[in-house]
Amino acid sequence: MPKARKEPTEPMTFPADFVLGSATAAYQIEGAADEDGRGPSIWDTFSRTPGRTWNGDTGDVAADHYHRLEEDLDLMASLGLRAYRFSIAWPRVQPTGRGPANPKGLDFYGRLVDGLLDRGITPVATLYHWDLPQALEDEGGWTNRATAFAFADYARVVGEALGDRVAVWTTLNEPWCSAYLGYGSGAHAPGRTDGAAALTAVHHLNLAHGLAVEQLRAVTTNDPQYSITLNFHVLRGRGHGAEEAVRRIDALANRAFTEPLLRGRYPQDLIEDTAAVTDWAFVQDGDVARIHQPLDLLGVNYYATTAVRLWDGTTPRQNHDGHKDVGGSPWPGSPHVEFLEQPGPHTAMGWNIDPDGLEELLLDLHRQFPGQLLVITENGAAFDDHLSVRPDGTHAVHDPERIDYLRRHLLAAHRALAAGVDLRGYFVWSLMDNFEWGYGYAKRFGIVHVDYETQRRTPKDSALWYRELALTGSIPPPAEPAGPPTLR
Ligand code: FCB
Repeated sequence: MPKARKEPTEPMTFPADFVLGSATAAYQIEGAADEDGRGPSIWDTFSRTPGRTWNGDTGDVAADHYHRLEEDLDLMASLGLRAYRFSIAWPRVQPTGRGPANPKGLDFYGRLVDGLLDRGITPVATLYHWDLPQALEDEGGWTNRATAFAFADYARVVGEALGDRVAVWTTLNEPWCSAYLGYGSGAHAPGRTDGAAALTAVHHLNLAHGLAVEQLRAVTTNDPQYSITLNFHVLRGRGHGAEEAVRRIDALANRAFTEPLLRGRYPQDLIEDTAAVTDWAFVQDGDVARIHQPLDLLGVNYYATTAVRLWDGTTPRQNHDGHKDVGGSPWPGSPHVEFLEQPGPHTAMGWNIDPDGLEELLLDLHRQFPGQLLVITENGAAFDDHLSVRPDGTHAVHDPERIDYLRRHLLAAHRALAAGVDLRGYFVWSLMDNFEWGYGYAKRFGIVHVDYETQRRTPKDSALWYRELALTGSIPPPAEPAGPPTLR
């Protein structure tokens, strides 16, 4: 059970240069799926395939951000955000994943970056948040080594266009999900269920990262920072075989990325654990050296913890790993690890709420990789929000659970900082409600509510609370913020 913590008696203030921002991803908010020359991505194909997403939802319209750029930029400014983490849709820039840039695609991101800079908001760009051009998937996607090189070319194209203005480049968002959910469990696009394919994808994603950083370094002119964002699995071993279960899942989920990225090698135990699945022949001479690039920032996404033990092989195997269960396994070589349901409280995703897990993760990364600067690139929660109409006709969403979630995780981040972790910022997931992948529009993570019928944006109470944090740098009390009841 989460420990009850005493309320801090003094204001919890972040250092003046600590960045407080919000995050989104292209396919989740943009819509305009077939406009201005954008080619299809694997998520278009996947979401348009019956049975793949909740309610058959797709990102065709999403939050219509593509058509509401100015309004959304003004919204960010009104919330006092100091930075905005967005992703660039590869198929908008290169509709088939290769070849010359689509000027209209690049123009959209140029306007986004300029609009941010005009408003004093730092642009933090992710090159890949899961929307692989379908044409590349047709050639094997991330199981095809050539995709890593195509990604490097794409990085160069984007770097040439925006490499004088973007402050932080993130190559990949959560390659764990791209590889294991996309090619192992089948919960994410392209929906394949093949453990060997998933591990091949892990390596090609790592390689893509290294090659892309090389290309970006060659073309950027404003001395940006380079990063990658990982979704760490914070593991709690329970009961039978706890230590072994933790070791195996840590290797697959965490060290398959951190070791090549930050130490220039794959973990030997990972190779051994997966020997029956693959011989790892896809790792070629020189690959790990190219993956092992100096990283200015390591992006950390954290939502919940994961409880594991070794399965006894007789009782029904529990599968509460926090990811949508569609039949396949995202854990190649470890079918005998069991994922246990955890005590509440839970969010609407069914994820347990455990801010201490974030503090532990940050301390652990600091210990493992001393001197590595960290940034929390995602943290947030889905709850079943209700829009209410005030007597004066304005809208409101009262979301005290989300404020509580954010506040307790920010306090955890603050504790880690006070303990010496080089933590440079925090991005709330998400700026606005959006297409939550396999869960479609059923799950609302935004601090701003989106009415998908009208596309009207309504800052939730959590947005007003977060604005106070962003403006003052101090974590506000749990109560609703003072000040005007609505921003619009
Ligand atoms: C992360 C993804 C992000 C969003 C949140 C809830 O895994 O990076 O796009 O779906 O989870």
